[in-house]
Amino acid sequence: MTTPSNPTTGDASWFVHDRFGLFIHWGLYSLASRGEWVKYHARMTDADYQRYFDHFEPDLYDPTVWASEARDAGMKYAVVTTKHHDGFCLWDTALSDYKATNTPWGRDVLRPMVEAFRAQGLKIGFYHSLVDWHHPQFPLDGLYPRHDDLAFRAREQGRDIALYRQYLHGQVRELLTGFGEVNILWFDFSYSERDYGWARGKGRDAWGGDDLTAMARALQPGILINDRLDVGWSDAGDFFTPQQYQLPIRLTWDGEPVVWELCHPLRKTWGYVRDDLDWISVDMLVRLLVDTVSKGGNLLLNVGPTPRGAFDRHSIERLRGIGAWMRRHSRAIYGCTASAFTPPPDCRYTQNGQRLYLHLFAWPIGHVHLPGLANRVEYAQLLSDGSEIKTMVLDPEGPAERKAFVIMPDMPPDTLTLELPLQKPDAAVPVIELFLK
Ligand code: GLC
Repeated sequence: MTTPSNPTTGDASWFVHDRFGLFIHWGLYSLASRGEWVKYHARMTDADYQRYFDHFEPDLYDPTVWASEARDAGMKYAVVTTKHHDGFCLWDTALSDYKATNTPWGRDVLRPMVEAFRAQGLKIGFYHSLVDWHHPQFPLDGLYPRHDDLAFRAREQGRDIALYRQYLHGQVRELLTGFGEVNILWFDFSYSERDYGWARGKGRDAWGGDDLTAMARALQPGILINDRLDVGWSDAGDFFTPQQYQLPIRLTWDGEPVVWELCHPLRKTWGYVRDDLDWISVDMLVRLLVDTVSKGGNLLLNVGPTPRGAFDRHSIERLRGIGAWMRRHSRAIYGCTASAFTPPPDCRYTQNGQRLYLHLFAWPIGHVHLPGLANRVEYAQLLSDGSEIKTMVLDPEGPAERKAFVIMPDMPPDTLTLELPLQKPDAAVPVIELFLK
């Protein structure tokens, strides 16, 4: 497969091969159980929020279990929140006291995670929030938890972004020097276009985005950096990161396909929410993965572990459901990308060289017709069990006995027809593997 050409330096060939990763949103907000923006939505002060720091005690935390759930789901990399917008650091940073090691738990929770995922063969990415609602020098703006408290705003006017920037760069340096090879740096996020009247949003200049990028690439030459630093197209990042939105068509830039990764939670929020039971079904998640790869993208699927450090049963059910499908169908995902062929209705194609995969989102009765593939397919099989699927090119002027029962519509003459078993195979999305000539 040729790697699409973002004008960047990172080598994305492993990334576009692996296609499927785990996103982890875990931190103090998990205790509040109302999503990772709770400090903002509830307009909490640092003092209000302190209770979560004082009760951070993930006694069920075993990252080896997380890593094996991810691996068994077919995921090949994990991106973990080192620090989210609330500013809480999961590792033992030398630059802040606001870190896991100072909570009652008293331990670095990032390092064992990195080690556990690596041990299971997964690559490692660091999500790092550019926004920081705890650092005393992070200037207030419209996204700040207490932005509408005018007295607080007036009191905090002297904050100096240059001091925060130093902190940000220092922490990124720590993360890229203290944990071995880091494969992905996933910054979040820039909003320089926003104007709140009394404050501007933040982006490239606020973060020192160019220096940050240069430093990251110098420290970790192979690293892939996402597109949320606001540093412009000349170094827009190695991949685009649409979020919670299934793309209707393939993502391109100037007509050329680009590297992209869709991030999506298993429900609406990223961080743990006890009371949100609006879970996406396994079938829908498998279709999301297939649809994403059929458009040349990766899927980064998020789990928000509980405050005690476990994956809840709904998340586990979903990871395992996807894993059951992946065990029999992963070769229609890994190494695959969009196909130049147009699939029939309710279907998607993924392709890896001479192997074309037909994913059937709906199971038709008896036959499926594939335009453009007559005389192009050497062999076809059901991927789940490797059983042959008969192929034919129906001739509208064909034998009389066939015409007696089938009224043939005018199909394009290059249409290949597959004869399907009557029963839908027992798979979230059945796949037919077509060996092209
Ligand atoms: C947004 C949100 C954040 C979440 C992220 C995931 O930027 O602010 O809460 O972590 O998207 O992509």
